[in-house]
Amino acid sequence: MPMPKCPALRGFFLLPMLSVVCLPAFTQSSPAQSGPAQSSPAQSSAPRTRTLFDTGWRFALGHAWDAKQDFDYATIPFFFAKAGYGDGPASAKFDDRAWRSLDLPHDWAVELPFDQRGDGNHGSKAIGRNFPENSVGWYRKTFTLPKEDEGKRVGIDFDGVYRDAQVWINGFYLGTEPSGYRSFHYDMTDYLNYGGSNTLVVRVDATREEGWFYEGAGIYRHVWLTETAPIHVAHDGTFVSTEIPDPLAPHPNAAITAQVAVQNDSLASASFTVEEQVEDAAGNAIATSEPTPAKAAPGESTELTATLSAKDVRLWSLESPYLHTLVTTIRQNGQIVDRYETKFGIRSIRFDPNTGFFLNGKRVELKGTNDHQDHAGVGVALPDDLMEFRIRQLKAFGSNAIRTSHNPPAPAFLDLCDRLGMLVLDENRMMGTNPEGMDQLKSMILRDRNHPSVILWSVGNEEWSLEWSAFGERLTRDTEAYARRLDPTRRVTVALSGSGAGNSLSTDVLGFNYYVQHHIDQMHARFPDRPVVGTEESSSEHTRGTYFDDPAHFHLVAYDFEADGKHASVEDAWKFYRARPWAAGLFYWTGFDYRGETTPFVWPAISSQFGMVDTCGFFKDNAWLLQSWWTEKPMVHLLPHWTWPGKEGQEMDVRVYSNAAQIELFLNGKSLGKQTMPAESHLAWKVPYQPGKLLAQGYDASGKKIASDAVETTTAPARIQLSANTTEIAANGRSISVVAVQINDAEGRIAPDAANLVQFHLTGPGKIIGVGNGDPASHEPDQYVAAVSKIAVSNWRTKPVDSLAKGPETAPNFDDSAWEKARDPRWDEKRVDPPTSVFRGYFEVPPSAAGSTLKLLLRSLGETQSIYLNGHLLAENLPFDAIGYEYTLDPAQLKPGQNVVAIYATRLEAHKKQQAFNWNGPGPAAVQQIQPAPAWQRSAFHGLAQVLIQSTPEPGEIRLTATSPGLSAASLAISSQKP
Ligand code: GAL
Repeated sequence: MPMPKCPALRGFFLLPMLSVVCLPAFTQSSPAQSGPAQSSPAQSSAPRTRTLFDTGWRFALGHAWDAKQDFDYATIPFFFAKAGYGDGPASAKFDDRAWRSLDLPHDWAVELPFDQRGDGNHGSKAIGRNFPENSVGWYRKTFTLPKEDEGKRVGIDFDGVYRDAQVWINGFYLGTEPSGYRSFHYDMTDYLNYGGSNTLVVRVDATREEGWFYEGAGIYRHVWLTETAPIHVAHDGTFVSTEIPDPLAPHPNAAITAQVAVQNDSLASASFTVEEQVEDAAGNAIATSEPTPAKAAPGESTELTATLSAKDVRLWSLESPYLHTLVTTIRQNGQIVDRYETKFGIRSIRFDPNTGFFLNGKRVELKGTNDHQDHAGVGVALPDDLMEFRIRQLKAFGSNAIRTSHNPPAPAFLDLCDRLGMLVLDENRMMGTNPEGMDQLKSMILRDRNHPSVILWSVGNEEWSLEWSAFGERLTRDTEAYARRLDPTRRVTVALSGSGAGNSLSTDVLGFNYYVQHHIDQMHARFPDRPVVGTEESSSEHTRGTYFDDPAHFHLVAYDFEADGKHASVEDAWKFYRARPWAAGLFYWTGFDYRGETTPFVWPAISSQFGMVDTCGFFKDNAWLLQSWWTEKPMVHLLPHWTWPGKEGQEMDVRVYSNAAQIELFLNGKSLGKQTMPAESHLAWKVPYQPGKLLAQGYDASGKKIASDAVETTTAPARIQLSANTTEIAANGRSISVVAVQINDAEGRIAPDAANLVQFHLTGPGKIIGVGNGDPASHEPDQYVAAVSKIAVSNWRTKPVDSLAKGPETAPNFDDSAWEKARDPRWDEKRVDPPTSVFRGYFEVPPSAAGSTLKLLLRSLGETQSIYLNGHLLAENLPFDAIGYEYTLDPAQLKPGQNVVAIYATRLEAHKKQQAFNWNGPGPAAVQQIQPAPAWQRSAFHGLAQVLIQSTPEPGEIRLTATSPGLSAASLAISSQKP
């Protein structure tokens, strides 16, 4: 596209880079699309605020079908017919103090035990149809809003909840989101208490599955509270696209098109002006538009388009992922009412049927992997820093692209790909032209279209019921056309498992899963105008550190295997695409191992083994194989390890992966010959095992030594070594350090078969959030969490008394059987309570309570009250409190079995009866039992394990100590600093 004309220089900046700005050419249309949650925070001093809403949630498991165990939810007769009648936990009055406190992101499935009755594809966790008691999770968060916020639009954005989320605010129903992967949002403005307390409730039902891999359960991505003025940029209401006429020029120019939808949520027509400014990473304006007047009718949105041009711009590229910001400013009567930031990159992309993929005019081979959002220790609940760690691990072996199989990723993930320089094939969850399917596609595109990292949309994966049918052709055609309407700047693919029919007949960019299952050359000849990309490749299974198949332990050799007719080896797949430069490249299945899909094994295997790295991100040998082809820095990788007691004299399959020109192998100082490194391949030797040192020396073409690798016979495991991806984290409660636990011999060499169980102890302002070791059959827990449960206090009886003074009624074995049963004050409004009463209720302390903390949670029974436990005074003359009181119970005052709470209370004022509590429901008291979490531990697997450490909001030194019987301990300091 030619550079847009610049009819009038109505405003420009002269910048250090000599960028000149022109053409505030706004065009206006209406109405516009408004989509769900904004992916990156739009910060400003203007009325818009976006607050992370991840902390301070309460959580409890409910039940998939038993109303009693689901806290009596949905039992009120007019449940969905009258506004504001959310019952059970959906009611604002529900007392959740006995529930567990936690922060998001959270995946409760990863906390559950492994169970053969669970779905092996989903990691065999005790969740799903066979476990109704583990499959529904409730989240509640209470928050206050200042009175001054009245008049603003207040919305709640969920980046992703797995799955089937019903959302309530203050007892009012907001909606249901079935997809576990869509970002969704609700406007809560009309339902909120301004200057008071609000309760947001989410019921999550993970009984049913979406994919065929571990998907977790819970609010596993961020939640945000967004406040704007009534006139504001609509949700996902900006779309920035860039045209670079000559991206290869040393000082390229760019045309930046900014589309913005302005939403009028006021009750009157609104006039306003909109102004766009493009800022570089340092915040300097490089292009700006004049304020353009516009109007929007009440409840409507108006779309405006501005084309700005900038000279000598810094492009977004893989080497330099430079980001710009579009700042949209809306003014009403001269006042700023919204200031909205959209991060984007100036870059051009092109898929060519004959030459592959181009970024900024340069061919880039897609060296990609497929990945699910799943990591050792935390399941799908990945802190942003862990996503960053994972992207960096993939980059470390030279990968430049990720396919987000098989669903839209977390918004934070795309922000990271933008920032770190990683290309993304963004995939929708379910193909369909039904309203739900189209809506999901739309929300993915509107949410993600400003990310420079996103280069291609995928609207389907291996659609078996479509691939060989006319439906497939029609659905693909219509879905792709819809995607192009929403985003004309990107092309669309479907990952095909079958060629020549159905989906493939109308797929724009042909995406092939596994070349051995297709006739790719014929398809290329048949559809010469369609670009080609390998959307999945290889799917070979390997276990880190395994060099002889060990099916008894579900471990498979880590050597790149030979093709088996159904799948190609890693090497074959790369050679196939290398030999076809018309194709854009490939995406291996997968970058990381993930839970579930235990192919070729079944229970008790619990994890896939397709990855180039394991579930912790530890390299398998194939990661180095890819590194040898995909990176320039001289490297040599030698396998297997060299500790094989009992195999002396046996021929070992020795391989070298390297980007050096030649490799010479030495065993105990003796050369075993020099070989030339074949392109896109590896070297192999058969070496009779003898203990000692095997060394691979790499030389460049001129014979200069450039890199080497050695493996040595180790002695017994002797000590633990800890190392971290970072020892400096932010004291914000979110930042993490990924710690590698390595078992070494006395000489400091990794003990390749070490499986020692290591105990972890943490001090300072941090916490361990998960442990793992990458063993695809390990049933050790990923997490050790405190068990929180509720003990009911029941059989309440009451009788009038003269005063609040302690009487014989407090004695544990006092006979109250002749007393009146305590009755619900809410439904008995005419009843006149005695001026003062005593109440007695009972609870059982189970044998499991030994070592637990028990907390008595009380609602107010009267205007003034005094409370006794088994005759011991807990508190005297407490005034009414709408929430109530909590007491941590002294174990010395508790008895095994039955315990008694006695409360003296003066009569409650009539209007407070309603808010006090419900005798027919949970009653005025409960006991929360907190069983402390067992100590954290994890076995090493082939010498390695991983510990994920997260900061708290307090700064200070976090210290991790690792111990194991017979090994010398290790300790690591992590400094958590004020952000
Ligand atoms: C593909 C599928 C992937 C994964 C892979 C395992 O057919 O698209 O999700 O299941 O097979 O080999």
